[in-house]
Amino acid sequence: MLSVTNIDTSYGHAKVLHGITLEVLSGQTVFIAGRNGAGKTTLLKSIAGFLKPSEGSITFDNQSILGLAPEKIALSGIRYVFQDKRVFSQLSVRENLELAAYPLKVGVADAIAKTVSIYPKIEKFLNLRAGSLSGGQRQILLIGRALIGEPKLLLIDEPTEGLAAGTINDILNVLASMKGKVSLLIVEQNLSVVGMLADKVYMMKEGKIVREVTDKAQMNDKVIMEQCL
Ligand SMILES: Nc1ncnc2c1ncn2[C@@H]1O[C@H](COP(=O)(O)OP(=O)(O)O)[C@@H](O)[C@H]1O
Ligand SMILES: [Mg+2]
Repeated sequence: MLSVTNIDTSYGHAKVLHGITLEVLSGQTVFIAGRNGAGKTTLLKSIAGFLKPSEGSITFDNQSILGLAPEKIALSGIRYVFQDKRVFSQLSVRENLELAAYPLKVGVADAIAKTVSIYPKIEKFLNLRAGSLSGGQRQILLIGRALIGEPKLLLIDEPTEGLAAGTINDILNVLASMKGKVSLLIVEQNLSVVGMLADKVYMMKEGKIVREVTDKAQMNDKVIMEQCL
């Protein structure tokens, strides 16, 4: 469904991605792991249309999406959950969902149902200010928002970053509940989360994919995984 072939992406004259090639098949959960500064966010932004690669190709369901505006890419079925976990803090949780639903012509009840389906507790928080949610709940709200409409592929940038162990478990459950129903391409540095959910892992270093792991035993072998980081 998503094929990235040999892309290079730069900020001005500084080339950050060097010949990245990856593939996500329909229904797969694919992770990108790598240290800070490896280029993981730059890669997701290049797929979502916020940055334009200078070389290579990106196709989604066999159509080229390279060079399309982010809104067009979103409408084609790719939704992007940014790393910064930013919600509309002054608005309620319900209003946050409503704002995301409106341009997609989806009713607020359907939008709420999407988030409830991955995290039933959100029902209790619908009238609270989104700014009062915990970091983990904000992340779940953002994932719920990305599920509105009929997305085919979610790009999620570091969903467990900065969260306490108990909260990481909530996120893990949310991701597990979506696994197989929607394709997932997730940037994640927590290797135990990766090992539990991944069908495939790409290890990134200095703007390149240095290893692709599909074997479950290898994914759960900390020594093998850490040596690639
Ligand atoms: N807006 C930007 N302008 C210039 N350089 C950037 C910008 N954003 C990121 N970079 C650089 O690109 C490299 C990769 O960054 P990033 O994709 O954010 O890595 P990661 O998400 O793996 O931590 C880093 O060296 C970073 O300093
Ligand atoms: Mg990043």
